[in-house]
Amino acid sequence: LNKHSTATQIVVISNEPIFKLHGEKLMDHFNSKQKMLPIFVPDSENAKSFDQVQTLYTKLLENKIERSALILAFGGGVIGDLAGFIAATYLRGVSFAQIPTTFLAQVDSSIGGKVGINHPLGKNLIGAFKQPLFVLGDTKLLGSLPDAEIRCGLGEVIKYGLVLNKTLFEYLDKNLEKALNKDPHVLLNLVKVSSEEKAKVVAKDEQEKDLRMVLNFGHTFGHALEADFKFGQLKHGEAVILGMKCAFQYALNNKLVSVEEYNRSIALLNRIPILFNGKDLNLNTLIHRMTIDKKVKDGNIRLVLPDGIGNYRFQFAENFTELEKAFKILAD
Ligand SMILES: NC(=O)c1ccc[n+]([C@@H]2O[C@H](COP(=O)([O-])OP(=O)(O)OC[C@H]3O[C@@H](n4cnc5c(N)ncnc54)[C@H](O)[C@@H]3O)[C@@H](O)[C@H]2O)c1
Ligand SMILES: [Zn+2]
Repeated sequence: LNKHSTATQIVVISNEPIFKLHGEKLMDHFNSKQKMLPIFVPDSENAKSFDQVQTLYTKLLENKIERSALILAFGGGVIGDLAGFIAATYLRGVSFAQIPTTFLAQVDSSIGGKVGINHPLGKNLIGAFKQPLFVLGDTKLLGSLPDAEIRCGLGEVIKYGLVLNKTLFEYLDKNLEKALNKDPHVLLNLVKVSSEEKAKVVAKDEQEKDLRMVLNFGHTFGHALEADFKFGQLKHGEAVILGMKCAFQYALNNKLVSVEEYNRSIALLNRIPILFNGKDLNLNTLIHRMTIDKKVKDGNIRLVLPDGIGNYRFQFAENFTELEKAFKILAD
């Protein structure tokens, strides 16, 4: 932290609950010559809004924050996305770094440089690519995190295992309960391996022209479910877990995975408890949602599917019946 944050003005964007828990320890790392400006935003997805962006610009200008400053995101994915968007646009861009404090942010959102805010018409529609100077993932910060947030991060970690890294899959198979119980050694290993996996993909395809789409595994089905259950009822990570089950069902129906690979993967996903009643699903609405997802190209739904365990393939959905059959795994 000391080595890489040498700016004389450091703006820490966080929220009050997180800062109360861990802020003091963070501030101890800087020297007395550095001007520190902590700014707190509301603790909710609504912080990723135009109103909040405007408020932050005003605070930075009033405090005479210059182009040489460092903006440090200290929080979960919401803070990282918002702070990064500010860093990408304030005075046409200032340095940016991330200290992610949720498991999801450490394994996923803090890496890769996608930053942005929501529009009333949809999530994450306004944004930029802004690579951080560094990401400091300290798993000690996760001690205070609610269990549900660990489950959400695990959704993304299992994703890397299922389509990119079979060794990670095997490790999860052995250690999933330890991860759910926040075993520090297991969490550290998962953050390390996951951030490396994501960084490798992003380094090859920063702007999501092709390969980066692999990170959407489970998300095309998952986003449709997430929207169906409205913000808050089903968390993103939980929706991704359900979405990966659908993707595996689709893959089995199309003989991309063996019955054994299917059974092992579904069994792993089933070990993460999710409160969800699949009997209430409306297949027509779900399929419609999939067709309007922002990743759809020329009306074709491009799926990321497993090709065995630890590999992926991209494939266009042949017809809606195949998609419906995939969703049906959730009703069993
Ligand atoms: N940029 C990307 O590539 C990318 C990828 C995935 C998700 N996202 C975005 O990330 C956001 C979700 O991020 P998230 O899951 O981290 O949720 P979040 O940022 O809302 O944090 C979840 C909750 O945990 C609390 N919290 C954070 N750290 C804590 C700690 N150490 N101890 C106790 N409580 C703590 C937060 O205050 C919040 O209430 C979404 O807006 C999503 O769009 C972005
Ligand atoms: Zn995700």
